[in-house]
Amino acid sequence: MFSTPNELFEYKGCNFISNIHNVEYLNKIPNLDIKKDDVIVVTYPKSGTVWMQQILSLICSNDNLAEAQSELTVNLVPWIEVERLPFKGSLLSPLYVTHLPYHLIPKNLKKGNGKVIYVARNPKDVFVSLYYFQNYLTLLESTSSFEDFLEKFIDGKVLIGSWFDHVREWYKHKDEFDFLFLTYEELQQDFRTSTQKLCDFLGKKLDEDKLEMVVEECSFKAMLANPMANYKHIPNKNPNGTFLRKGIIGDWKNHFTVAQSERFDKIFEEKMEDFPFQFVWDSKK
Ligand code: A3P
Repeated sequence: MFSTPNELFEYKGCNFISNIHNVEYLNKIPNLDIKKDDVIVVTYPKSGTVWMQQILSLICSNDNLAEAQSELTVNLVPWIEVERLPFKGSLLSPLYVTHLPYHLIPKNLKKGNGKVIYVARNPKDVFVSLYYFQNYLTLLESTSSFEDFLEKFIDGKVLIGSWFDHVREWYKHKDEFDFLFLTYEELQQDFRTSTQKLCDFLGKKLDEDKLEMVVEECSFKAMLANPMANYKHIPNKNPNGTFLRKGIIGDWKNHFTVAQSERFDKIFEEKMEDFPFQFVWDSKK
């Protein structure tokens, strides 16, 4: 256990935000009814969740594009772990996002019942993004120093928990699901090909015009300017910050010292030693 008053609380090995999540509802999640066509995007925080909300809401909008574009993406692709009123639009969404670790997900999400898209991002960039987020979002406690917060991140004493455990656990169980593993970096490097991959996985056929529209509307610049997708409605304590901050690969290089980076790499090697997927974090552009 660790002490972070009025901020995070631990529930079954996972750290939640006290003003957003509640135990009574979390207790119900294992028994939520997941249907055959439901799609669930799973991410560790700061790995591109809101990007995926925008991508999926457009890919899956079918003939209701105008409605999809005039509604907050968080309503179109809601959080599994946040109790909410049902969305009243005609787009009865079978799309969800979640940060839940593998062991807390609904029990009937299994092969043939729901699809899982896991998006992973370089943990060094995740950390930098989380550091700024923590000092932006009103509901999170501002950080101490970068160095101290890095220690907390490595120890998993942050929102949700350990990046290493999250990725490892989900990947270990991937064969239990209809599962697509993507990286934030892959989306950045070749967004069009990644979108095509997503469409194939979801069984969606987009014509050239629609594909082009998705590519345009999901760019960082377009999303930042789009009040339905930029999360500016979330209460914040820093008027100079934004939820969509930089949207780049490798911002960690502007923040980590050489010593911090080397130490992190060593920990990464130890914790991910037998991880079967070879990550490519660096930009080839
Ligand atoms: P940065 O803080 O590095 O800019 P999440 O949605 O999981 O909280 O992740 C947020 C991160 O995804 C932020 O990273 C944000 O800028 C980035 N992001 C959101 N939309 C994006 C887009 N269209 N293109 C690239 N990055 C995007």
